[in-house]
Amino acid sequence: MNREPEFEGVRRMRGMVAPNVLSAFWTPLCAVGSHGERGPNAQICVSVFGASIVPDRPRLLVNLSKTNYTCDLVRKSGTLSVTLLSEAQVGLLETLGLQSGRDGDKLAGLEFELTGHGDPVFPGGVGFVAGEVIEAFDLGDARAYLVAVRERETWAEEARPMRWQEVRETIGEDFLLRWLAKSEREQEAARRVMKWR
Ligand SMILES: Cc1cc2nc3c(=O)[nH]c(=O)nc-3n(C[C@H](O)[C@H](O)[C@H](O)COP(=O)(O)O)c2cc1C
Repeated sequence: MNREPEFEGVRRMRGMVAPNVLSAFWTPLCAVGSHGERGPNAQICVSVFGASIVPDRPRLLVNLSKTNYTCDLVRKSGTLSVTLLSEAQVGLLETLGLQSGRDGDKLAGLEFELTGHGDPVFPGGVGFVAGEVIEAFDLGDARAYLVAVRERETWAEEARPMRWQEVRETIGEDFLLRWLAKSEREQEAARRVMKWR
């Protein structure tokens, strides 16, 4: 039987087709925040990595797509925040991951706090890390920000970080279909400009 592409998309999203070794390299789900003239904003990200072996000089490497409003805010402000989301915060995925701050104030109605630099963090998470950009690397479709950590706090050591590999099994089909459609558009745009050989 010829299955509809949407059905196949949902199966793929839920990890019901052959497991992809690359998905093991996605980090736990994070909310990456920054700020600009119109106030704070944040996006969902699975690409946040520790980047220092010197304990008193902690760094992060954070990859953000250039199409994201948050990426522009980080470029202009030179600061960002990272909330390590807990499993209880699944509700944030839709607001921060499917909508853009370019289209309106995504944080209206959400509970958040501001770091010393004015970047948003989301209580209920495992904790947060925030800092200043040391250097930005141009990946064509994305920017990789090397960040010097200036603030950090663990809120709930016992809370489990949220992982896409797990949450995609239980999250609603409506979310998966909207994420699939958005991902396809983003991939098309990225393909045109990404560095590759
Ligand atoms: C599960 C999930 C994972 C995502 N991972 C990333 C990521 O690693 N990097 C990225 O730039 N965008 C990622 N996104 C997409 C952004 O969160 C999304 O495009 C967001 O709407 C951008 O918001 P903004 O325009 O307000 O910055 C992810 C979204 C979801 C739902």
